[in-house]
Amino acid sequence: MRRPLIIGNWKMNTNISDAVVLATVIRDGVEDISNVEIVICPPAIWLTEVSEIIHKNIGHLGLGAQNIHYLTDGSYTGEVSATMVRDVAKYVIIGHSERRNSFAETNGIVARKVAAALDAGLVPIVCVGEKKKSEKSAVEIVKQLKESLVGINKNELEQIVVAYEPVWAVGADEPATPEYSAQIINQLRAIVSPQTPIIYGGDVSSGNIYSFMQRPEIDGVLVGRESLNGQNFIKLCRIVAEYKKII
Ligand code: PGA
Repeated sequence: MRRPLIIGNWKMNTNISDAVVLATVIRDGVEDISNVEIVICPPAIWLTEVSEIIHKNIGHLGLGAQNIHYLTDGSYTGEVSATMVRDVAKYVIIGHSERRNSFAETNGIVARKVAAALDAGLVPIVCVGEKKKSEKSAVEIVKQLKESLVGINKNELEQIVVAYEPVWAVGADEPATPEYSAQIINQLRAIVSPQTPIIYGGDVSSGNIYSFMQRPEIDGVLVGRESLNGQNFIKLCRIVAEYKKII
């Protein structure tokens, strides 16, 4: 059975004291939730601080970075490698639409980052999604995922997480429908392993998460804005646990 997952992407938000408070509130608030993997992804600069807050406590609360470089070291000012991240975190978001769109990350670059993450023993959370909804969306997303996973072997496919995030729903006021998302996810499922969790992201909130979690095709959620409020995020974690029947 695939493990349900909820991932909070803090993006470029929080100062050090916000990060400490938020991580502490989440750690304490999810202590009794078992069998749901909960991952928080603070800005890289707070990873060490947050790892000290959460790692000593609960095994199912994990830490992720929001990005890595595909090389391990060298003269790349401002970059962070997978081998650096693995000392403090277990996951890394790769190919988020904001990186693809604002930092010109191509599928080829994403594939190199996925390989670097796996080589370093990190779990890559590979994001894909169409810019605009159209009849060709499914074809576009399938191509995007295939190209983002070039060179990744069958065993490695079991170690990744895929996040389907329609770009038009990320940071917007309306999510995709669960039915539409499930249809897309069914097509992505054919590319990965039966064990690979595939989650949905884009305007997830306490008002709509139920409908996503009712779909067996959707193994969890990737949450942006709502992960910046500790109580809201804890509520979302509880709903995932409740709907996937394993609290
Ligand atoms: P949002 O962001 O939940 O604020 O729409 C989602 C994401 O970027 O993963």
